[in-house]
Amino acid sequence: MALTQNELKRAVAEAATAYVKEGEILGVGTGSTVDFFIDAIAPMRDKIPACVSSSERSTKKLEGLGFKVLDMNEVEEIGVYVDGADEIDGSFAMIKGGGGALTREKIVASVSKRFVCIADASKKVEVLGRFPLPVEVIPMAARAVRRRLEALGATVTLRDFVTDNGCHILDAAGLQIKDPEALEAEINSWPGVVTVGLFAARGADVLLLGTEEGVKTFEKP
Ligand code: 5RP
Repeated sequence: MALTQNELKRAVAEAATAYVKEGEILGVGTGSTVDFFIDAIAPMRDKIPACVSSSERSTKKLEGLGFKVLDMNEVEEIGVYVDGADEIDGSFAMIKGGGGALTREKIVASVSKRFVCIADASKKVEVLGRFPLPVEVIPMAARAVRRRLEALGATVTLRDFVTDNGCHILDAAGLQIKDPEALEAEINSWPGVVTVGLFAARGADVLLLGTEEGVKTFEKP
């Protein structure tokens, strides 16, 4: 019988525990796959001095299991950052932000030596864009940024959601993102954009992909 998506997520989450280094501060992302990861590292609590988390959601779960969670400003560098993705392409560029934590995810990823992406097989794509691209915006800029995204050919929806940073999210559907790094730089340059959910300039270093044949490990090409 075929494995469910949750079973694939749990499998990659468990495989990611092998990347956790004893005595090192761990970066923890956000989402349902990461929730499985947090459950999987619970028995390793005494070996992990502290975590840095990319959302209030993950912080709550980590603290509930007895982990120490540090503010980013207390930390110089993180060894390994484990997080999910909404899509990942062959160059390990990703769309992230389905769970609305894109800005904090990008910040934590930026100080992490290694980004380990954990994803079920449905997330692996040839070209990014089937999943609507999240863009976090300062609320007063929502309309102006929406117009710019529409000019790129996207169909844009304002998500009924307020981020941990008190901002809004526009979801831009229908883009075929052939040059993720260029689009990331362009959208990030627009006034009022906090973060675009394209992780191309700093993509993943390792991909653990949950498939019917087991967890497959890929290193950044
Ligand atoms: C949250 C994210 C998540 O990593 C992404 O949405 C994947 O989520 P899930 O593991 O629930 O499929 O970017 O902002």
